[in-house]
Amino acid sequence: MENNSIPIHKDSDFEGMRKAGKLTSYILDQLEDLIKPGISTNEINDFCHKLIIKNNAIPAPLNYKGFPKSVCTSVNHVVCHGIPSDKKILNSGDIINVDITVILDGWYGDSSRMFVAGKINKKNYDLIKTTYECLLLGIKKALPGNYFGDIGSIIQKHAEEKKYSVVRDFCGHGIGKSFHTAPSVLHFGRPGEGEKILPGMFFTIEPMINIGKWDVKILNDGWTAVTKDKSFSAQFEHTVGITKDGNEIFTLSQNNTDFPIKGM
Ligand code: MF3
Ligand code: CO
Ligand code: CO
Repeated sequence: MENNSIPIHKDSDFEGMRKAGKLTSYILDQLEDLIKPGISTNEINDFCHKLIIKNNAIPAPLNYKGFPKSVCTSVNHVVCHGIPSDKKILNSGDIINVDITVILDGWYGDSSRMFVAGKINKKNYDLIKTTYECLLLGIKKALPGNYFGDIGSIIQKHAEEKKYSVVRDFCGHGIGKSFHTAPSVLHFGRPGEGEKILPGMFFTIEPMINIGKWDVKILNDGWTAVTKDKSFSAQFEHTVGITKDGNEIFTLSQNNTDFPIKGM
C-alpha cells in the first residue's frame, strides 16, 4: 500500500541496511582502478553487475520502471540516470558519477560517487569537491529533532556560495525494503521546513550540483537527465539511518575513498 508517511524502522532493521550499504560501497571501492580513458560506460555496468550478482544481491536499477541497465553512469553534463552504453567511451578528463543500488536480503543500499578518467582539471575538481562537501554538510544536519529543510538549506547555501546551482528536479528519498519511499529529501530549502527527522528513518542524501544553471532536460531515451546549458554537473550519494542521538552512514567506503579524486 502506498502512503506518504515516512517509515520508522526498528533497531534490528539497521543490520540489514548495514549489509546492503557495505556491499554498495565495496563495489564503488573497486571502480577507482577500473575507470580510465578508453573504458566504456557499459564495461563499468557489466563489472558492477557481475560483482553484485556474485555477492548474492540484485542490481535494483535493472528493469526498474524500464531502466535497461544495472547502474547509472552520468558523464560530464549528464546530471543523473545516464544509461551505460558501449558507445560511450571515456576520454581523459571526463568526470563520471556511478550510482549503485543493490538489494541484499530485501534491503536497499544506494550510493554514488564521482570518478575521473585520467587527469582532472581545476574547474571540475572544484565542482566535485564542493558537491562532496554539500553531501557531508547535509549528513551533519541529519539528526533526530532537526527538519529535512535543515539538510536542504545547508546544501543550497554551500553550493550557491561557490556560485554553483542545485538541481531541483531530483531529490533524495526514503529507502529500506523499497527503493524510493517518503520523504522526498530536497537539496534546497529553508531551515525548519518540512517533516521532523526521527530515529528509525532511513533515507538518501544525493545532491546534484551544476556549474551553470539548475535547469535540466530529459533526453529522448526517457532517462538521461542533462543540464540545459551543457554545464558540467556532479553528484554524491549516501544512504543514512537516524539513530537516537545521531546518524549512521550505511554506505561508507571501506578503504576511505568516499571521495575518489586525487587532490590538486
Ligand atoms: N540510484 C538512483 C537514486 O539515487 C535511482 C536510479 S533509478 C534508475 O535514486 F532507474 F535510473 F536506475
Ligand atoms: Co538514491
Ligand atoms: Co542512487
